[in-house]
Parts: sequence; C-alpha cells; structure tokens
Amino acid sequence: MDEGIVPVGGTVGILGGGQLGRMMALAGRAMGLHTLIWDPDPLAPAAQAADDHIVAPYDSISALSEFAARIKCATYEFENVHSETAQQLSQLCSVYPPPELLQVSQHRLVEKDSARALGLATTLYGPATSPDEALNAVRRLGVPGLFKTVSGGYDGKGQALVESVNAVGAAYQSLQGHGDLMYERWVEFQTEVSVVVARDRYGKVVTYPVTENHHRRGILDWSVTPAEVSSDHERLMTEQARDVAEGLNLVGVMALEFFVTADGRVLFNEMAPRPHNSGHWTIEGAWPSQFTQHMRAIAGWSVATPRFLSPTLMMNLLGDGFVDGFEMLPRVMELEGVQLHWYGKKDMRPGRKVGHVTIVGDCVPRLKETAEAVRQILGGRCNDGA
Ligand SMILES: Nc1ncnc2c1ncn2[C@@H]1O[C@H](COP(=O)(O)OP(=O)(O)OP(=O)(O)O)[C@@H](O)[C@H]1O
Ligand SMILES: [Mg+2]
Repeated sequence: MDEGIVPVGGTVGILGGGQLGRMMALAGRAMGLHTLIWDPDPLAPAAQAADDHIVAPYDSISALSEFAARIKCATYEFENVHSETAQQLSQLCSVYPPPELLQVSQHRLVEKDSARALGLATTLYGPATSPDEALNAVRRLGVPGLFKTVSGGYDGKGQALVESVNAVGAAYQSLQGHGDLMYERWVEFQTEVSVVVARDRYGKVVTYPVTENHHRRGILDWSVTPAEVSSDHERLMTEQARDVAEGLNLVGVMALEFFVTADGRVLFNEMAPRPHNSGHWTIEGAWPSQFTQHMRAIAGWSVATPRFLSPTLMMNLLGDGFVDGFEMLPRVMELEGVQLHWYGKKDMRPGRKVGHVTIVGDCVPRLKETAEAVRQILGGRCNDGA
C-alpha cells in the first residue's frame, strides 16, 4: 500500500459521483489535484467537474483495478459504499477516511456503541432484529421511538415511528425486507446541530463552528451557522467531535450530528465520514471550505485552522419544484449575499437534492429574512412543497 503524499498534479479517486464528489473535485482542481470518479451513472454530477470518470458497477473487479492503478489515493463521497469495495481498494491504494471508520458509520448500532465508548451520550437504543426483540426493545426503552434500518438509511429513509406499544407490529412490518432493524427512543430536542471536524495524517484536528439544522419530511431543509446553542454546549460538542476524530483515526472530514434537549442534554445521533450537507455553508462562510479541507487531508497535506468569515444560512433545493425548468434560479442572486450552487443532475426526482443556496450576512435574523425572500422567488421549490 502506497502511503505517499499526492503531489500537485496527482490524481485522487472518488468513489461515488454525487454532489459531494462534485464539490470535492472542484475544490481539488483549485489546488492542482486531478480527480477520477467511479460511479455507474454516466450522468453523475461529479463527473462534470472531475478529470475523468469510470462508468461501472461498484462490484466490478476490473473497474477496481483500473481505478486503483490510475490514482494516488482514494476517498468516497457517500456512506453506503460497499464496504467490501473499500476494503479491497485499501489493499491496492490508500483509502481515506479509513475503511474501518466507514464500517462504523455504516451500522447504526456499532456507530452508537463506538460513540458511547468514546464518552458521548446518546438516546436509549437497542437491537430489534426479530419481532420479539423489537417488542421487547419498545417495552424496555419506552415510547415514542423509531425503528431504523441499521444500514443503508439516508434522508430519513428506512425509519418508522412507534407511538404506542400497540403500533409495534405495523411499524416493524413497514420496514421488513430492509435488513436488520434497531429501535431508538424519540428525542424531544430543542435544537438539532452538527459539527464538521477535519484531521490530517499528522494528527492535527480542527473543527468548524457548530451548525444548526432544520429538517422537513426527514430531509435537511436549511442550516444556519452560528447555531443558537450555549458556549458550554458548543465547547462540549467540539471536544466530542475531536475525541471521535482521534479515537476513530479520521483522515479527511467528517460530521457529527447531535440533539440538544430542552433540559440541557447533548445527545449524539450519527456520524458521516465525509463532507456533510450541513457543512456546505463553509464554501462561502469559512476558510477553507470543508471540501478543500477534505482534499488537503486525504492528499497527505495539512489541514488548516478554519477561519469563520460570516454568519451563513444554507437552503437545500429539491427536485420536486424544478421538473418544469429552473429559469428562475439566477433571480435569487439579485438578493444581497446570495449564492447559488447547482449540481447538474439530469434526474429531477422528487425529494432529490439538486442544488443549494447559500446566504451570507451580518446576523442570523437578516439571513432568515433573505431565506424567506428566496423562498418567495422560488415559489415553494425548496423543501417545503408538501
Ligand atoms: N431518536 C430521534 N428522535 C427525534 N428525532 C430523530 C431521531 N432520530 C432521527 N430523528 C430525526 O430524523 C432525522 C434523520 O435521522 P438520522 O439522521 O438518524 O437518519 P439519516 O436518514 O441517516 O439522516 P441523514 O442522511 O439526513 O443524516 C434526524 O436528523 C432527526 O431530525
Ligand atoms: Mg442524519
């Protein structure tokens, strides 16, 4: 395995060709890093911004050897990468973040166990791999709560709410066929937040200010930084993010999601070993962006201590509203402090993230006003259609 540093002009391989890969490729290009995308979709958004693209299924052995032969190191831009592919790839070239960290984040029970072992608090949870175990878990841990698939979930998919013990059967049934399930107690949170943390190969760890996240229909709708949390909570979550980055040997960028409850508890929800949707604000609101930071770290360069440049609000744009065109998009940039990011997806499927809007400004209330004005222009084409 080659532990070498990727030189300027060297090539980084990215498993997955979505918007995260696209923004990684763009950030890498600015620093002279080439990128090779591996994604079965010939129209993958990242391929439009990268140097080259291998169009092949993720279990293709010939694609694996071609990919490894053409790159100096690899990363991935979604968590549901076949962990076998990541493992096999790591026999051929360096893979960052390490595949062991990917495996932890791919299994919700292992993920929460690992976080607890590192001193983070979580909501009550337990396995629910059979109907009996599911019923026992609900009785033991209490309602309301959620059944979640232990792997493969994203954007709130693979979850079923359990409001009473009587509803266990139906909720459990609704997720049958999606692999093993777990149960977790519902958290009455006051604020939902995330922390983006970066670590380089030399052990330097840096964090970004805490971001406040607002979901709708299980999908991140908008985020704002700084989050409305106490400085004690900010310090605690920042320390915990550092502990996880060090404890799980991060190289690259990862995000940790937390709930802050009304009675002042901080509960870890999940982690993503890659740049995160809630960190998109860093492209305009901080230096360097989470994508630049990720590319620096995985290439074997150093991470930079981030500078907070401006309060920033990020709004996701979903496919639902844009099936009939997106001519109105440039108009949002007539508003002060607004920047559009468009991912170039050909498929405008409902619920699919097709772009985002960043708003920078002096204070959070003004950012929220501008966000409202953006929504007006887009006429419900954000995440608030239904
Ligand atoms: N135990 C819980 N109590 C309250 N709300 C929850 C709980 N678990 C999840 N949620 C809500 O559902 C959202 C999605 O859940 P979660 O982050 O666990 O799964 P996900 O599908 O991997 O999400 P994503 O890919 O958007 O990060 C959370 O951001 C939160 O708003
Ligand atoms: Mg989540």
